Amino acid sequence: MNLEPKDLNARDIYRIFVSVVSPKPIAWVSTVDLVGRNNLAPFSMYTMLSTVPAVLGFGVSAYHDGGKKDTIKNVEATNEFVINLVTEELSVAMNITSSSFPPEVSEFEKAGLTPVRSAMVAPPRVGQSPISLECRVLEILRFGSEPTVNSFIVGEVLLVHLDDKYCPGGVIDSERLKIVGRLGAQPPDLYCRTTDTFIMKRPES
Ligand SMILES: Cc1cc2nc3c(=O)[nH]c(=O)nc-3n(C[C@H](O)[C@H](O)[C@H](O)COP(=O)(O)O)c2cc1C
Repeated sequence: MNLEPKDLNARDIYRIFVSVVSPKPIAWVSTVDLVGRNNLAPFSMYTMLSTVPAVLGFGVSAYHDGGKKDTIKNVEATNEFVINLVTEELSVAMNITSSSFPPEVSEFEKAGLTPVRSAMVAPPRVGQSPISLECRVLEILRFGSEPTVNSFIVGEVLLVHLDDKYCPGGVIDSERLKIVGRLGAQPPDLYCRTTDTFIMKRPES
């Protein structure tokens, strides 16, 4: 079967992308609006882009009716965000925060999470998450046309907050972290654990 994206609707392309670009890490993104209200939501269009400088990016789609998600509204208004790591233990809470609550409702409260003051940016980090990355926007790429513009937010990491419990000897212990990944969107959404791992030595060059 050969498929050309131009012949497909948005839903079908989305289903192909989430299954093919997989497993995906999840950026659990906290932001604040201009009056200081917290927002938290997961985004799996997420990747690292550069190490020096330390740059990450994540994508925010428009709602099907063209509405803007709170995350992109807040990032455009404040230029700051925090990416929190999602572990197995936090996956149910992460899922709760994917509901489209109005701006006056705090996803932290809805999911029973503790907002903890960040050191370098206004958005709080998730207290229960073992790793949080405080970021400032470098650039926002935009794809498509109004009203359904999809944004890709590129941000520089200003501070890495690590819970020492997960870094014995100063090195992050991936097995201890139990990060979850996102697979397809059947629905229901499919996730994976990172506890079934294997190692491979790189060939000598
Ligand atoms: C695991 C997971 C990954 C998601 N990834 C994305 C994504 O990459 N981009 C996106 O626009 N929405 C994504 N969503 C949906 C948003 O989390 C959802 O639309 C949320 O309500 C946005 O919240 P906000 O309006 O507070 O920004 C994802 C949801 C889940 C559960």
